[in-house]
Amino acid sequence: MTTTFFRYRDIEQLQEDVEALGVDVRLQPHVKALLEPVRIGTLVAKNSLAIHPMEGCDGTLDGKPDELVFRRYRRFGAGGAGLIWFEATAVLPEARANSRQLLINAGNAKSLEELLNTAKRSHAEVFGSAEGLVCGIQLTHSGRYSHPQPLIAVHDPALDAKKNIPPDYPVLSDEELERIEDAYVCAAQWAQKIGFDFVDIKQCHRYLLSELLAAKTREGRYGGSFENRTRFVRNVIAKIKAACPGLAIASRINAYDGVPYQMSAAGKEGVPCPYTTPYLFGFGCDEDDPLREDLTEPIQLVRWLRDWGVCLLNVSMGNPYANPHIGRPFEKPPIDGYAAPEHPLRGVERHFRVTRAIQRTVPDVPVVGTGYSWLRHYFAAAGEANKRAGDVSLVGLGRGAIAYPDFARDLLEHGAVKPNKVCLAVSYCTALMRWKHNALGQFPCGCVPRDEVYAPIYQQGLKTIKR
Ligand SMILES: Cc1cc2nc3c(=O)[nH]c(=O)nc-3n(C[C@H](O)[C@H](O)[C@H](O)COP(=O)(O)O)c2cc1C
Repeated sequence: MTTTFFRYRDIEQLQEDVEALGVDVRLQPHVKALLEPVRIGTLVAKNSLAIHPMEGCDGTLDGKPDELVFRRYRRFGAGGAGLIWFEATAVLPEARANSRQLLINAGNAKSLEELLNTAKRSHAEVFGSAEGLVCGIQLTHSGRYSHPQPLIAVHDPALDAKKNIPPDYPVLSDEELERIEDAYVCAAQWAQKIGFDFVDIKQCHRYLLSELLAAKTREGRYGGSFENRTRFVRNVIAKIKAACPGLAIASRINAYDGVPYQMSAAGKEGVPCPYTTPYLFGFGCDEDDPLREDLTEPIQLVRWLRDWGVCLLNVSMGNPYANPHIGRPFEKPPIDGYAAPEHPLRGVERHFRVTRAIQRTVPDVPVVGTGYSWLRHYFAAAGEANKRAGDVSLVGLGRGAIAYPDFARDLLEHGAVKPNKVCLAVSYCTALMRWKHNALGQFPCGCVPRDEVYAPIYQQGLKTIKR
């Protein structure tokens, strides 16, 4: 039996829990600021609502968008959010996280362009024009989560153990990292040719660039000092600026990695994997107590990113494979996952607290906030309060957007979202993402409770999984 956390019949009951837990989550039910446009460098998003990057793991084996990918972006485009952050797209074949992840290269550029145009066209069909719809693409190297072969920047005892990576497993060399930098530049050139408004140099969720930020124990030019740990992203930004004049550069960052978790001995809720202090394996972690944030470096990072030319940030945290409750506060874990070790409102508060600190550090750079989906239809009240306070510039939905792609349209047209369309945070999407036991080596993922396409896919996965 898992605990039921979300049991609010109205916003007052949510407010009561907020007060009982003593979390700093503010609610402003009258939505107005979220409907206002946002300036992003030279771009303007027509409203302050964003769709986070949400992989469907449903491309073709060579990394082109397939039918379900087109369907997803058709729905996102028609949904009315002012910013669509296209999902993780690998810069090299060996950098993909699964056999169906999108891949950007010469062979796939035309179909990615068709995908972008699909989103814009469906937006224009509903709203008259695609002006004010900002579309960017997330460029990724999956690093230790590359499939099938992990490509690690540094050893991390707990993360290595989770993937059976032995202590003598090779670490990417400085020369290999330099070549990967060039792959990012090539990918950015394709993204610009395709017509994306911005590229995201992804530095979150412990994929390669996120791991580099935490590579305190790595030797050589890319590890150790903070200057070295930011060398990769600094080089990539400078090279993209030179190669792609006029292309806006964004970054989705992990501002707090946290420590890896495991199932408790009782087989229920998550507990931290054993660690020693000073803890040298997480970015944004207090070295003496890594269960807490120390934002000194993340704050320095965003100042540098702004100075180097980044005009849009997206703040995230955690590691979806090792501590999913941090990045995506959930009601129910995936079937093989641990139950939430904290009330999800604490996870929501952590997102808001960290994002506030980042947005206030760089008030001139719009920040997209994360971690709203668990709040269901009350996400808008929380987003409105955060936006009015200057704690965030755009409010993004991840799981909430695959459940309810037209959430923005309902907010624009009715001033409210519909409770019967929201994400329930029950983690079926995550389970689908992890499942590889079909002919293509990867299940497509989407919202099982709210999108009729995915219930049969989930049932099929359950039936065929070996236990
Ligand atoms: C199925 C699924 C796919 C995701 N794909 C991506 C991705 O491609 N890139 C990324 O940065 N985050 C990805 N995320 C994380 C989300 O963008 C988001 O940060 C997370 O779900 C928390 O936000 P939420 O509470 O609105 O869902 C994914 C999450 C899920 C559940």
